[in-house]
Amino acid sequence: MDGNGRWATQRGRPRLFGHHAGARRVREVVQTCPDIGVEYLTIFAFSTENWKRTQVEVAGLMSLFRRYITKEARTLHDFGARVRFIGDRVRLDKKLIDLMDELEVLTAKNTTVNLTIALNYGGRDEVARATKRLAQDVAEGRLDPANVDEETLPKYLDTYVLPDPDLVIRTSGEARISNFLLWQSAYAEYEFIDTLWPDFGREEFTALCANYGVRDRRFGGVKK
Ligand code: FPP
Repeated sequence: MDGNGRWATQRGRPRLFGHHAGARRVREVVQTCPDIGVEYLTIFAFSTENWKRTQVEVAGLMSLFRRYITKEARTLHDFGARVRFIGDRVRLDKKLIDLMDELEVLTAKNTTVNLTIALNYGGRDEVARATKRLAQDVAEGRLDPANVDEETLPKYLDTYVLPDPDLVIRTSGEARISNFLLWQSAYAEYEFIDTLWPDFGREEFTALCANYGVRDRRFGGVKK
């Protein structure tokens, strides 16, 4: 959800104003999913690198996440969204972790759309944490190194219950991955668009997904 800061700066407002505007766009995008056949949506809310921002911005974002979850829980649940969080929770405050847990439990039986919120998430950090747990299983005799293959590591990733992404959309004109779902995106299609996140909505999301639908995905093979 990139471009909130620039969106605010363009309006002569503080960056957090842009994050609040960005948060308001999430509902529309989530609610578009079932209409266009998107069963799983993952949004990148805060990266493991975002702690480098000013203390004011980080604190403002953490407060926004608490407010967002508190305010949106009922709407997300009534809509039938199943919400999950990925990322490392250790650096997050207890109140926020409790709200995340509660929202996951509240929505656990919902099936309209699967919304995953990446919060304190980094692809490399996720692989490192997964590897640590995998190594523990080897050390304690639960896993034989001879049996480790491509199917093994994903079972240790935060996304172990989720399918790999088909389409990754990056807003705000940046053409890089920035540590998002590194392992999982091996065969994802990418869309890099200029729109700043607070201006992104149903129409553009629908158009990008329609465009994805006509792409020729070969997964390294040849066209049949
Ligand atoms: C990146 O834009 C955006 C963020 C780091 C925050 C995203 C968070 C929200 C939109 C709040 C929604 C919250 C939830 C839990 C759904 P940027 O600040 O890097 O923008 P810039 O590139 O223009 O500076």
